[in-house]
Amino acid sequence: MASASAGTPGFPVLAAIALACLPCFLSIASSSAPTAPPHDTPDTDLQALLCLKLRLSGTTGAMASWRNDSAQYCSWPGVTCSKRHTSRVVSLALDSASLHGQIPPCIGNLTFLRSVHLPNNKLNGQIPPELGNLNHLTYLNLSYNGLTGMIPNSLSSCSRFQIIDLANNFLDALGYCKNLEALNLSHNSFSGSIPKELFTLSALAEGLDLSHNQLSGEIPLEIGGLINLESLNISNNQLSGIIPSTLGDCMHLESLHMEGNLLHGAIPKPFINLRGVTEMDLFQNNLSGEIPEFFESLTSMKLLNVSFNNLQGPVPTGGIFQNTGEVFIQAFPQKIDEVLDPYITSSSEDGDLDNNSDHGNNATDSVDSCIVQLVKLSLLCSMETPKDRPTMQDVYAEVITIKEAFAALHG
Ligand SMILES: *[C@@H]1O[C@H](CO)[C@@H](O)[C@H](O)[C@H]1NC(C)=O
Ligand SMILES: *[C@@H]1O[C@H](CO)[C@@H](O)[C@H](O)[C@H]1NC(C)=O
Ligand SMILES: *[C@@H]1O[C@H](CO)[C@@H](O)[C@H](O)[C@H]1NC(C)=O
Ligand SMILES: *[C@@H]1O[C@H](CO)[C@@H](O)[C@H](O)[C@H]1NC(C)=O
Ligand SMILES: *[C@@H]1O[C@H](CO)[C@@H](O)[C@H](O)[C@H]1NC(C)=O
Ligand SMILES: *[C@@H]1O[C@H](CO)[C@@H](O)[C@H](O)[C@H]1NC(C)=O
Ligand SMILES: *[C@@H]1O[C@H](CO)[C@@H](O)[C@H](O)[C@H]1NC(C)=O
Ligand SMILES: *[C@@H]1O[C@H](CO)[C@@H](O)[C@H](O)[C@H]1NC(C)=O
Ligand SMILES: *[C@@H]1O[C@H](CO)[C@@H](O)[C@H](O)[C@H]1NC(C)=O
Repeated sequence: MASASAGTPGFPVLAAIALACLPCFLSIASSSAPTAPPHDTPDTDLQALLCLKLRLSGTTGAMASWRNDSAQYCSWPGVTCSKRHTSRVVSLALDSASLHGQIPPCIGNLTFLRSVHLPNNKLNGQIPPELGNLNHLTYLNLSYNGLTGMIPNSLSSCSRFQIIDLANNFLDALGYCKNLEALNLSHNSFSGSIPKELFTLSALAEGLDLSHNQLSGEIPLEIGGLINLESLNISNNQLSGIIPSTLGDCMHLESLHMEGNLLHGAIPKPFINLRGVTEMDLFQNNLSGEIPEFFESLTSMKLLNVSFNNLQGPVPTGGIFQNTGEVFIQAFPQKIDEVLDPYITSSSEDGDLDNNSDHGNNATDSVDSCIVQLVKLSLLCSMETPKDRPTMQDVYAEVITIKEAFAALHG
């Protein structure tokens, strides 16, 4: 009998990792130990596992080694059983295990499941609603599969999930859960505006990752409700409008990624409250106005990327700006005059720039034809992709031109 012989369950490494990832209060959850529903027979879990094998694994998949004549299913690769209810499966963990096909409803018979970790497989079709009925499930990781369709209501109305990772699928509807600490829906095909309800998930502390979707419209003001959130990534969508100043209410933010959207307007003043922020990436939007001077006072900041926007005016000089290696304020080369510290330009117009020189030359010319050209050239040389960078011959020719222009100015 399955239950009798399964007394020494194996703990495969993957399962151990998956469980180790769970936040510590999971142990509280597990202290309210599941009790077996009356209809469960001792081999319910064995039958459900064999059903999964039949539907998800051919001869190549990791489940192929699950021998149907062996009652020792607790030591099958990827299967972990409960220590107290020794015949009940609490964790399924098969990362990159060549599983394919649609997750069958029989997974809903593994009623003690707390953790399902099946990333990097070729699971497709819809997520079965039966998954949402697993009352003890707190961790669900189906990232990097080919799942499609909507997230079932039974999942999205759940109140017990702490982690759901459905990144890299083709899902097209957003779900949300009350006790969720982390939600990763990146690299899906979510479109339309971000549902406001998402921002009522005040338990979300670890992270919200909606990056690499086709989300559009404005960022709802309600985003300020995520007061415990440490990491927000809404990069690489088509979000437009201004950055809501309520985002400054998310005072626990450590990482803010909004790059690759269509956001415009100024960087909001309340960002001064983001005192714990270590990285802020606003790269490639259409933000305008000045780079706020208060960034100097955000002393935790390690990375600031405001490149490829329409920012103007002087670049602050204190705080993080002292360490140019961590600040990206690149602009398109043609915008260089706006990004250059106006001090350089204005002082040069006053003639101060060459007050050591006795040649009586034209300082404005020297800025325009030498310094600006040189900065443009160095920006071109630092373009991200090699094909955008000029060839060595072109650089040489340009340097010679600049040198000649300079020589001409200085007689
Ligand atoms: C076990 O699997 C073999 C081969 O896949 C099959 O012939 C056999 O009927 C199965 N036995 C049970 C009890 O399911
Ligand atoms: C779940 O288990 C019960 C009892 O073993 C069985 O009758 C039922 O068919 C199973 N459901 C699925 C979806 O496999
Ligand atoms: C889900 O699994 C992938 C692949 O193993 C892993 O990189 C990712 O961190 C997991 N997600 C969570 C939220 O633990
Ligand atoms: C979300 O998932 C993607 C793909 O698996 C991964 O690259 C990313 O780091 C995850 N986000 C977070 C916040 O862990
Ligand atoms: C989103 O940002 C978070 C925090 O910096 C990062 O861990 C994650 O990898 C990013 N997501 C993707 C898909 O790159
Ligand atoms: C960017 O903003 C400027 C005004 O600041 C506007 O003229 C331009 O059309 C905007 N570009 C995009 C792509 O939204
Ligand atoms: C920051 O900006 C540079 C270009 O200025 C870009 O190459 C880079 O990917 C951006 N992001 C980070 C995190 O450095
Ligand atoms: C050059 O500028 C400095 C600072 O403005 C000034 O003190 C100095 O007298 C100037 N030198 C000449 C030769 O004008
Ligand atoms: C210096 O150059 C600027 C711009 O080319 C020009 O307007 C100005 O008249 C020049 N001044 C002198 C003194 O040559």
